[in-house]
Amino acid sequence: MANMAKPNEGEWMSSTSYRTRQPNTGTRRNNGEVSPFDDVALEYDAWFEGEGKLIFATEVRAFEGLLSSLPKPWLEIGVGSGRFAQALGIENGVDPSFKLVKMARRRGITAFLGRGEQELFDEESFGTVFLIVTLCFVDSPLAVLKQAYRVLVPHGKIALGLVLRGSPWGKFYQQKKKQGHRFYKYATFYTCRDVVRLLVRAGFLVEKVISTLFQEPGKVHRVEEPREGHLPNAGFTVILAGKQGVNTETTKEDESWRQ
Ligand SMILES: C[S@@+](CC[C@H](N)C(=O)[O-])C[C@H]1O[C@@H](n2cnc3c(N)ncnc32)[C@H](O)[C@@H]1O
Repeated sequence: MANMAKPNEGEWMSSTSYRTRQPNTGTRRNNGEVSPFDDVALEYDAWFEGEGKLIFATEVRAFEGLLSSLPKPWLEIGVGSGRFAQALGIENGVDPSFKLVKMARRRGITAFLGRGEQELFDEESFGTVFLIVTLCFVDSPLAVLKQAYRVLVPHGKIALGLVLRGSPWGKFYQQKKKQGHRFYKYATFYTCRDVVRLLVRAGFLVEKVISTLFQEPGKVHRVEEPREGHLPNAGFTVILAGKQGVNTETTKEDESWRQ
């Protein structure tokens, strides 16, 4: 039986007291930096009900076929305002943005303030870890994937939702980044191969890739059905990987998921 999913005492204490004692400084990360998502939290969250509505529904659908095979309990690293967590039934989340954590809590998610690179939870606490449009925003993707590995039970799963570098939507957001967009300027997009390599280095083995969002940016008029495999013209890609018995940097890259 897995340990109860709970953050290390210190983290929980600091985020709790932080929240109650100094609510106005809640936009600061543990290291004193402001989370860029705090400044755009309302606008970010509103996107899901405005221009992002069909995109979000398409991305949720890409995960839906996987959910019944994913062991509980679930954790989303980079839970944001809890939109995906609520839609997919993810019970727990962590995020460095105080304002987004508050929104996620209002959506019923057990959300903690923190970064995915930190040791926030006991080992083997979760059956599945999700990272949905978050890997491109973290400071150290490998460190986050290694933490995900650590908190997963043996044979636990990791499910990544990604906008890949070089895809039509990756190019669109890369352009926004160049123009100094409020939060895309902080994003670093990765290719499918980059992500697979990072997963392998963290100890995971890729089991399945799902592609969706073939409509182009600015031309999304319907919810799409996902397709299996990595298709380069997809705007959104889900990679499912499993925790293997060994965490080794030299594990051979498995590419059986390729079409
Ligand atoms: C594009 S949002 C995605 C949020 C949510 N998964 C969603 O899809 O709505 C990226 C999220 O990553 C979070 N983030 C940034 N750096 C992070 C880190 N080091 N660890 C965990 N989350 C991080 C941001 O605060 C933000 O909520």
